[in-house]
Amino acid sequence: MKVLVTGGTGYIGSHTVLSLQEAGHDVVVIDNLVNSGEESVRRVAELSGRTPEFHNVDLVDEAALEDVFAAADFDAVIHFAGLKAVAESVREPLKYYYNNLVGTLNLIRAMDRHDVRSLVFSSSATVYGEHNPVPYVEKMEIGANNPYGRTKEQIEDILSDLGGADQRWRIALLRYFNPVGAHPSGRIGEDPQGIPNNLVPFIAQVAVGRREKLMVFGGDYNTPDGTCLRDYIHVVDLAEGHVAALNHVAEPAGIFRWNLGSGQGSSVLEVIRSFEKAAGQPIPYEVTARRPGDLPAFWADATSALADLGWATTKTLDQMCEDHWRWQKNNPNGYGT
Ligand code: NAD
Ligand code: UFG
Repeated sequence: MKVLVTGGTGYIGSHTVLSLQEAGHDVVVIDNLVNSGEESVRRVAELSGRTPEFHNVDLVDEAALEDVFAAADFDAVIHFAGLKAVAESVREPLKYYYNNLVGTLNLIRAMDRHDVRSLVFSSSATVYGEHNPVPYVEKMEIGANNPYGRTKEQIEDILSDLGGADQRWRIALLRYFNPVGAHPSGRIGEDPQGIPNNLVPFIAQVAVGRREKLMVFGGDYNTPDGTCLRDYIHVVDLAEGHVAALNHVAEPAGIFRWNLGSGQGSSVLEVIRSFEKAAGQPIPYEVTARRPGDLPAFWADATSALADLGWATTKTLDQMCEDHWRWQKNNPNGYGT
């Protein structure tokens, strides 16, 4: 298939571009590089032996997007492009609503104009909000508790309405849990700008000496060791989940929702221990106050993805930490190294 990947220079996007190429697909990437750089395209090409076509395009620029669609005949689109920092979305909600919603509306309008109606969308476990029991199941009522999460929820609603109104659309809403790790080659990985918001990138920067110590947000939760539980998923497993979903939306019409997670929760302290083992060194940390908005524990019910897509995670937490560490150690300053 000829596949357009928006946000394809980013963390999950770059790994998915590689998996798509390995599965024989022809990939075109668009990204405005607001949170990534073109170096990831070069590294993906080095790994796959094929350079994906790249366009520096902002999804909110409807004319530039139209040019991309006019120049190629896509079979499907995988849509990663968006802003994703929860705390920033609380401070700057308009920036998030504008970028994520207008970008998506422009994209699906362009798809409709050009008769491309197979779409895989990056949603998030954050849409389950704070009121659902764990594990999260796709049929639960959703309701995010921050502006970033609400952009995901609103896009899910828009796409559900679209799929309901026009049977020609085939849409997969993929709700990711906590993606970590890197390609085992150590050539592509996560390259957060500024201070990392997320746990594993922060630990990795402590291990490589860029930060002094990790602050563990809360040690008094009602969990086995007092720290929060999350469902960590290796980014390569996640990328493979997109290839599986793409094959599914190539055929039956409709709208599908799948959790992409392992079905297992790990605590912050377990992640620290696993990373220490991978890096062969202690990770200095201090337990501090809870981070506002954090939920004590959530993980996926991942049985639907297995039943419908034949997809399940294959990699352990130790492998996630080993691969993340290899990437960080070989690229201490990310792609800027
Ligand atoms: P990322 O920031 O590395 O990748 C997103 C890419 O989108 C970046 O390269 C950025 O430059 C690009 N982008 C943003 N706005 C754009 C626009 N208007 N036009 C063109 N390009 C634009 O993030 P990621 O971790 O790879 O996440 C990919 C997707 O998955 C995002 O939609 C994110 O919300 C979602 N997601 C991520 C996580 C996570 O923990 N990483 C969890 C759940 C869902
Ligand atoms: N944590 C720390 N110290 C840090 C960073 C994180 O203790 O410096 C803790 C958090 O308190 C939480 C756990 O590590 O208990 C995981 O935190 P992350 O920030 O890595 O991940 P979240 O579960 O908060 O959120 C992530 C993404 C969201 C997404 C969600 C579900 O950032 O966008 O996973 O997919 F919605």
